[in-house]
Amino acid sequence: MGLQSKDPSASTRWWGKETICIVTGANRGIGFALAKTLAESGLTVILTARDATKGLQAMEKLRNQGLGAHVHFSALDVSQPHSIRAFAAWFKHNFGVLDILVNNAAVSFNNVHENSVKHAEIVMKTNYYGPKLLTEELLALFRRSSTYKSRILNLSSRLGLKVRNPNIRAILEDEVNLSEEKIDGVIRLFLKQVKDGTWQSQGWPETWTDYAVSKVALNAYSRMLARRLRDENIIVNCFCPGFTQTSMTGGKGSRTPDIAAKIGASLALLPPNHLQTGKFTMGQSLFLYSRF
Ligand SMILES: NC(=O)c1ccc[n+]([C@@H]2O[C@H](COP(=O)([O-])OP(=O)(O)OC[C@H]3O[C@@H](n4cnc5c(N)ncnc54)[C@H](OP(=O)(O)O)[C@@H]3O)[C@@H](O)[C@H]2O)c1
Repeated sequence: MGLQSKDPSASTRWWGKETICIVTGANRGIGFALAKTLAESGLTVILTARDATKGLQAMEKLRNQGLGAHVHFSALDVSQPHSIRAFAAWFKHNFGVLDILVNNAAVSFNNVHENSVKHAEIVMKTNYYGPKLLTEELLALFRRSSTYKSRILNLSSRLGLKVRNPNIRAILEDEVNLSEEKIDGVIRLFLKQVKDGTWQSQGWPETWTDYAVSKVALNAYSRMLARRLRDENIIVNCFCPGFTQTSMTGGKGSRTPDIAAKIGASLALLPPNHLQTGKFTMGQSLFLYSRF
């Protein structure tokens, strides 16, 4: 199925207003555009942001576009376990059931051509441990419909496909024995090398290294989770939107957040008979399975 049609509902519309979707980091950038696109498509969207003022401003923009009936706001800082737990409790109380989780929130502290790892810990906490903990906290609430299937879409990056170290590759490629402990071990190893200053010669991705390692971990966790949930009617995929003009890239990029969001929303809304799980999709291409 092509993913470039303007309206994600062009083929089979399986969702309605009762279909509940959470988008993290949705006050700006691709997250905001995704929340808007999903609301325009007719779903109920929970727009979350770590800063309530910014989140409410984003809500206001959507209300002004006539989408008020489709969006709700809750604060959520994915780097803070207490915030994740409070959000999950709020969501359970107010909605109870979840169809789509879009783990979008992420940070990078580098400009496009920089590669500092000064903030490596917070990058791991936000980009890997955050989506992982949020997913686990919400897991019991997914609808688990065999007809429609629930969906987890993790915003990832092609930078997270570029590990050269053969030992790390061997750990991550061993699909049968891959475990959360092993993925956490890879992160601990990286953070240790950051601390003792040896990370540059260890075969980690060369661009935005700390961010890329966080996405390496997210990709591996997503594949593992996809396998774990295969029989539970929850599918898990990763999506790299490509180089997109947002704050993260200092406004540089080959596409707008709206275009990236159209493709992301198309993936999240694929008709049940087109669904695959454990896949990594880049830009506008079809599903590409990648072991990394
Ligand atoms: N732009 C690209 O070229 C590109 C390429 C590949 C992948 N991606 C991925 O696409 C996703 C969206 O990126 P973007 O380009 O739209 O970046 P962005 O404009 O910098 O937006 C990031 C969003 O995440 C939020 N955020 C950061 N830390 C958070 C936390 N601890 N808790 C909750 N929200 C938090 C930010 O909130 P604040 O406003 O409060 O900071 C903001 O809303 C990310 O996962 C990114 O890795 C982007």
